[in-house]
Amino acid sequence: MTLARENPGAALITGASRGIGRAIAERFGADGYHVLVSDLERQRGEAETVVESIRNVGGKADFLPCDVGDPKSIETLVNDTVALSRGIRVLINNAGVLSVSSVDDLSPEEWDRMYQINTRGTFLVTQAMLPHLRKQDRARIINIASIGGKRGAPGQIHYCSSKAAVISFTQILAEEVAQDGINVNAICPGIIDTDMGRNNYRTPDALAAVHAKTALKRLGYPEDVSGPVAFLASDDAAFITGQAINVCGGILFH
Ligand SMILES: NC(=O)c1ccc[n+]([C@@H]2O[C@H](COP(=O)([O-])OP(=O)(O)OC[C@H]3O[C@@H](n4cnc5c(N)ncnc54)[C@H](O)[C@@H]3O)[C@@H](O)[C@H]2O)c1
Repeated sequence: MTLARENPGAALITGASRGIGRAIAERFGADGYHVLVSDLERQRGEAETVVESIRNVGGKADFLPCDVGDPKSIETLVNDTVALSRGIRVLINNAGVLSVSSVDDLSPEEWDRMYQINTRGTFLVTQAMLPHLRKQDRARIINIASIGGKRGAPGQIHYCSSKAAVISFTQILAEEVAQDGINVNAICPGIIDTDMGRNNYRTPDALAAVHAKTALKRLGYPEDVSGPVAFLASDDAAFITGQAINVCGGILFH
């Protein structure tokens, strides 16, 4: 038997001022991590509320602004992270955007924006953080993908395909960095009650349809996702890598 680790290290979470990212930040704060709450500069107010909520219960947290669509901003994030925490053990690529459009109406600019943030952002933040993660024992990368990346939804062709790319990135990266002691996994949320998730149930009929297709007959909540992310970061998940785990209440079964 071994005692629980007293210091789980630092965790960087992108897009953490609200929604799923916020729930992950607060969960990691409660679990004793030094939480680096990152989000767009324009989200500073909300992000600082998250930092305060972690500090108020005795946790450690700081806000680091970053636009994951901008390589210069990512460079600053890496420097700030190293200065504040001397490296991170857990990277959670959570920042993401969604819009809805039929393939006929979709502009190349909107296609690119989705990939720039959801896919290229995940790649660039990961690439920039890898040298620091490699210095840590038991490092973890957790990408927030989507069940849409496995079985897409009409009207979200750009979003779903950008998330399919995140799943593929996760699988290949897991093999590339296994030798460095880094485990890489993805979480694929179903329909979660956040600003983004609400795009899927704007009318009572749409909400009823979500309930109907979900085995557990309810929406997911950000806290439904933060627990599985905390598990993947823990020692209990030491033998799990390269997986894309559905957290969807039973919409998808593979
Ligand atoms: N809510 C759902 O139903 C659902 C389902 C599957 C996957 N997801 C994924 O979960 C993650 C979190 O989504 P959410 O539901 O909390 O949405 P949300 O819109 O509430 O939060 C997204 C966060 O990402 C931040 N963000 C957006 N662009 C950014 C950028 N360029 N750089 C840095 N941060 C940026 C936003 O400011 C926001 O804080 C996303 O990757 C999303 O694709 C959500």
